[in-house]
Amino acid sequence: MKARFNYPTRILFGRGVIEDLAAEVWALGGRRPLLVTDSGLMKTDIPGRIEKILKDGGLDPAGFSDVSPNPTNRQVDAGAAAFSQHRADCIVALGGGSPLDAGKAIQIRIHHKEPFEEYDDLKGGDTKITGELPPLVAVPTTAGTGSEVSRSAVISIASVDRKVVLFSPRLMPQVAVCDPELTYGLPPRITAETGMDALSHNLEAYLSRGYHPMADAIAMLGICMAVDNLPVAVANGQDVEARQGMMMAATMGATAFQKGLGVIHSLAHPLSSVAGVSHGLANAIMMPHALRFNAQDAPDRVADVAPALGSEDVSGEGAARAVLDLCRQIGLPTRLSEAGVTESMIPKLTEKAMQDGCHTCNPRECKPEDMASLFTAAL
Ligand SMILES: NC(=O)c1ccc[n+]([C@@H]2O[C@H](COP(=O)([O-])OP(=O)(O)OC[C@H]3O[C@@H](n4cnc5c(N)ncnc54)[C@H](O)[C@@H]3O)[C@@H](O)[C@H]2O)c1
Ligand SMILES: [Fe+2]
Repeated sequence: MKARFNYPTRILFGRGVIEDLAAEVWALGGRRPLLVTDSGLMKTDIPGRIEKILKDGGLDPAGFSDVSPNPTNRQVDAGAAAFSQHRADCIVALGGGSPLDAGKAIQIRIHHKEPFEEYDDLKGGDTKITGELPPLVAVPTTAGTGSEVSRSAVISIASVDRKVVLFSPRLMPQVAVCDPELTYGLPPRITAETGMDALSHNLEAYLSRGYHPMADAIAMLGICMAVDNLPVAVANGQDVEARQGMMMAATMGATAFQKGLGVIHSLAHPLSSVAGVSHGLANAIMMPHALRFNAQDAPDRVADVAPALGSEDVSGEGAARAVLDLCRQIGLPTRLSEAGVTESMIPKLTEKAMQDGCHTCNPRECKPEDMASLFTAAL
């Protein structure tokens, strides 16, 4: 199966579409791409394969792979320097959310020179992203963040000591090349964690405040696809249908969260920046607690998603239990203490969760004491 969509951006989807990458770069006017990836992926044959596809297509790429999980502003500056040094004219961002977001932030950095925190979406930084942005093609190798079709990049910024969302409609990649085959070698644990991120995007989008029936429809099917395919993809990474289903669920998740996210992501962001928990695992652990919390103010919305999560009991408790069962089935821990979080971290986690913008779309208002209780319940 191969497909072409132009919603929410140009998407090439299906096994083998990676072979069309060079043609897509040419069509954007690119000749000298900066291939942004991360050090983990450099241990696989994927960056080499992509570089060959670009070269065989008559392009002159240079590589930049100094990107860590949860990329930093320092790495973005180094990437922008590599872009200038190569006299690059476009970016091919390859990897999970970390290199895709690093690629988008490098895109900003080329012609935007203020300190990075000035572009923080929470401070209205989107209005400052006005200069030229080199074109970017996103090639996901995890099925999780959906950054390939999102208008944001999440970067850890040292000066403010937290993960900052950079947002602009202009950050939507010009093209997303979604080839599920690039995820076949993803280890089971990363498949499970990133897959729970995809589920959380669909779930939070559906529950979030606001009127967006189109996003709701995508989110609901995205939940079903993630729940159906994730256990299979974790058990057998070579399962073509499951890998394809998860990659589509991830792309649908970020398409749906144009509507908004919610408290799960506000809790998850500091769990990564303060306690080093991976983004997907942080979402997975907080999800059951957030469902119980949200069911108190949005019981109807939670009742809608419970069957999609696999629960006949449509209460918050039923939905939470379904998520816990899924986590156990895919081998993920369900408690923060199992992920290195201690009670003494909760005040700082709470402060940072309140500063995060995602919870402003949550169906239930979140006060500092709510954030603290949710962290404590998950310990
Ligand atoms: N921009 C957005 O809209 C958005 C949305 C959600 C999350 N995020 C951000 O995305 C980041 C997380 O991204 P992620 O969960 O995809 O993880 P990641 O990009 O950090 O990758 C996790 C690990 O998987 C490895 N990896 C990736 N693909 C692989 C493959 N095919 N084979 C083997 N190893 C592979 C990487 O090297 C890395 O070690 C966080 O910083 C998060 O805040 C962004
Ligand atoms: Fe996420």
